[in-house]
Amino acid sequence: MVAVKPLILALAAGHLAHAQLNTAAKAAGLLYFGTAVDNGDLSDSQYLPNLETDDFGQITPANSMKWQPTEPSQGSYTFSQGDQIASLAKTNNDYLRCHNLVWYNQLPSYITSGSWTNETLIAALKEHINGVVTHWKGQCYAWDVVNEALNEDGTYRQNVFYQHIGEAYIPIAFAAAAAADPNAKLYYNDYNIEYPGAKATGAQNIVKSIQAAGARIDGVGLQAHFIVGQTPSLASQKANMAAFTALGVDVAITELDIRMTLPDTSALQTQQSTDYQTTTTACVQTKGCVGITLWDFTDKHSWVPGTFSGQGDACPWDSNYKKKPAYYGILAGLQSGAGGSTTLTTTTTSTPTTTSSPATTTTTGAGSGTGAAHWGQCGGNGWTGPTTCVSPYTCQVVNPYYSQCL
Ligand SMILES: *[C@@H]1O[C@H](CO)[C@@H](O)[C@H](O)[C@H]1NC(C)=O
Repeated sequence: MVAVKPLILALAAGHLAHAQLNTAAKAAGLLYFGTAVDNGDLSDSQYLPNLETDDFGQITPANSMKWQPTEPSQGSYTFSQGDQIASLAKTNNDYLRCHNLVWYNQLPSYITSGSWTNETLIAALKEHINGVVTHWKGQCYAWDVVNEALNEDGTYRQNVFYQHIGEAYIPIAFAAAAAADPNAKLYYNDYNIEYPGAKATGAQNIVKSIQAAGARIDGVGLQAHFIVGQTPSLASQKANMAAFTALGVDVAITELDIRMTLPDTSALQTQQSTDYQTTTTACVQTKGCVGITLWDFTDKHSWVPGTFSGQGDACPWDSNYKKKPAYYGILAGLQSGAGGSTTLTTTTTSTPTTTSSPATTTTTGAGSGTGAAHWGQCGGNGWTGPTTCVSPYTCQVVNPYYSQCL
């Protein structure tokens, strides 16, 4: 029984002292840590008290700025649902990522079933972009201008825009968005482009084609809808991000969730924590990765169970708003050192960090000789990094998955 007392003290201390996600993200050099918010979430009385904390400094409307809800009949706009999310961002002083302008899905039938020519569809596309971007001008940190334009093999997805306009619809959309809000960062956003491969190469070709057309693109959104135990390695994610930033654009993790086949187990939760930590670390250690957005933060409002039969529990908070191991994995990732620099130590246990081999960097948080830094991870289930702390900090158990130097 005697051993229990220090553990309880450590739990209390850790709970009070640990940094929250957005605070830790900013300390790591990111602009924000954020989450998608759907309008329906706001009628859950537990939702806002958990959103309006230092865990979040950015929100994305999950649905209400898409084409169908904003321009349900041609030339007639409805902005009230999007306004609700935009004003929430304003109230909380959060970055707003606006989402999205051009996508093959959630389109009104006048677009999908209209009889268009190249010219008339370009006119409708420009009119929609101008109408929506102008309405929220000055409020959007970023716009996802074009969403999911690629097939898995990196070729252009067949959709109404591609069919009538051809690949020119993409630079045309970016130019229209740039004209309507010169200060919003303009993004291409897609999934399965979080690791090198044909689709990521296709996305890089989109960046180049926009630039070649003389239009502006500022960033690429890596959605990161992942599966527990199947996420790309840290080296793969970092190399992939670097291939985008080498083109002169930012990257952001825009829709992060990591689902599992139910039933949930503690082993799956441990792996999920590791997987969240890996993606977070990749962003923190990549110069030009500006922030991370969850595709909702609580399992209670996740899109996963409704979309992927038999799967779920993809978020860092459970359905009762209790933080899961994944939360502490994210926190550890945020504390893993910024920009590949050595100012925060990010060494492997056996090899000193060198600037020539960033791909070998792991997430252990601190050199083994000196112990982990203040706030760094120093233990937990599956943890293989340092278990001591630099003076004067001591390693304290926060929960079974996460001990921290406090
Ligand atoms: C449609 O018009 C645009 C702008 O003139 C042009 O760039 C594009 O190639 C045209 N697409 C087709 C399929 O003709």
